[in-house]
Amino acid sequence: MSKNITQHVYSISKSDRLKNNGHQAKVIWFVGLSGSGKSTLAGNIESVLHQKGYKTYILDGDNIRFGLNNDLGFSKRDRSENIRRIAEVARLFNEAGTIVLSAFISPLESDRNQARKLIGIENFIEIFVHCPLHICEKRDVKGLYAKARKGLIPNFTGIDSPFEPPKQPDITIKTEMESLEISLKNILEFIEPKLKLE
Ligand code: ADX
Repeated sequence: MSKNITQHVYSISKSDRLKNNGHQAKVIWFVGLSGSGKSTLAGNIESVLHQKGYKTYILDGDNIRFGLNNDLGFSKRDRSENIRRIAEVARLFNEAGTIVLSAFISPLESDRNQARKLIGIENFIEIFVHCPLHICEKRDVKGLYAKARKGLIPNFTGIDSPFEPPKQPDITIKTEMESLEISLKNILEFIEPKLKLE
């Protein structure tokens, strides 16, 4: 970081923006293996919130890797940088008063902890999208597990790259056990009270 920079404080604050929006801003961080259902849940939750008038935005692993993070791969170092940048972006959206739904594998606890710290624990809701590897592999929506098993994709999460399950997530959703409807209901019941302005 350059030494020759100073922070400018503007007159409109986060709480001014929240008042305008009429709700709290949270970062709803979905964690889970590829194919566990993160994007499906994030998309459906966003639709419900949007229809109710909340300001929302989705940050999605595959999408962000087409743009902002198109210089990053899947080494440990690149995944950490991926999560660091996402956390910075999520923090900006949070300051802007928007509800962020983020869907990244975010496999390492240390990276998630960094993200939580940066965004602020009071703003951060962690949802563990729990689905056993063999089910994700059976679903293989993008055909990537089959390729990874053939050795065509190195460092694939769950195959030859680690996934550390969250130790104390705010919510755990077992996508192989419960219907999408029930999962959405459970998430919304947890989130909505936290979106109220005092
Ligand atoms: S993370 O580990 O850095 O958080 P991220 O969520 O951004 O991952 O991207 C994961 C997506 O990239 C997967 O859903 C999958 O479509 C694709 N992908 C490509 N290569 C890999 C890999 N080696 N490991 C995991 N996902 C991969």
